[in-house]
Amino acid sequence: MLRRLSPVQPDSFAFTPANLEWAYAQMSKYPEGRQQSAIIPVLWRAQEQEGWLSRPAIEYCAELLGMPYIRALEVATFYFMFQLQPVGSVANIQICGTTTCMICGAEDLIAVCKRKIAPAPHTLSADGKFSWEEVECLGACTNAPMAQIGKDYYEDLTPARLEELIDAFSAGQVPLPGPQNGRFSSEPLGGPIALAHLKGQGDSLNASAALARDIGETVKRIDGTEVPILTKWLRNPEAAVDDQTGVDTAPEAEPRPSEGVPVDATGITAQEAQAASAARPVSDRNPAGIRGIEEAEQKDETTDR
Ligand code: FES
Repeated sequence: MLRRLSPVQPDSFAFTPANLEWAYAQMSKYPEGRQQSAIIPVLWRAQEQEGWLSRPAIEYCAELLGMPYIRALEVATFYFMFQLQPVGSVANIQICGTTTCMICGAEDLIAVCKRKIAPAPHTLSADGKFSWEEVECLGACTNAPMAQIGKDYYEDLTPARLEELIDAFSAGQVPLPGPQNGRFSSEPLGGPIALAHLKGQGDSLNASAALARDIGETVKRIDGTEVPILTKWLRNPEAAVDDQTGVDTAPEAEPRPSEGVPVDATGITAQEAQAASAARPVSDRNPAGIRGIEEAEQKDETTDR
């Protein structure tokens, strides 16, 4: 599938201060000169901020990481997780259209999306709340057909249930993810016939659906409030001095042996391949392993000459 940038683009893009701080923290995880290794998480955070990746956002990320724009564009257009067109403000509904889901009714789900959201994928609904697309197997084949909405999976779907889900999301609700037909997880439709005593462990939802229910962030975009930035080496010790006691409570900075040290003059890390075949390991017959065999072969060749 050809993935092109949207014909409609915003004038500019910039990270929020919190996202910029987070991006610098990600970049600090890599050796000096290797900051472009952070391209995927940085693009992802840009997408979480705006909902999709615009051309200014891709250019901004490339500049931030000191890499050619075309390299960032290659990453953004290669991975389907990056949305290159505007998506719905509430959710972009991803319908799995691969074999199992297709056999079990994915086309009927797509028909619902076409009718309730927009006739074509990657197109906003009239109210701007939704968009939809067909995606490849999402790994929940035993609960086909299914859709990913926000961060969670809605499984064992029917067209009627998908319509209800879209209406609920539109009304600001977050319906419970997981199987939508009463199944606990991926047991046989008639109920489990093995390990049946493990079912539920007291919770009516399986662990994945229960976690989604407890966190309640199915369609919330990542904004940095989820977890603290785990880069202790960037922490300013002065910021951790207790106002009352004056005691420095900051953890010691972690050593960063490569800080300020560039990679070699060519920009390429020197690495010597240790050529030893795992397919020909050391054995009783050849206790010296592949190296010994190769040396013996070389010796034979020299003698033959
Ligand atoms: S075929 Fe749809 S989840 Fe695998």
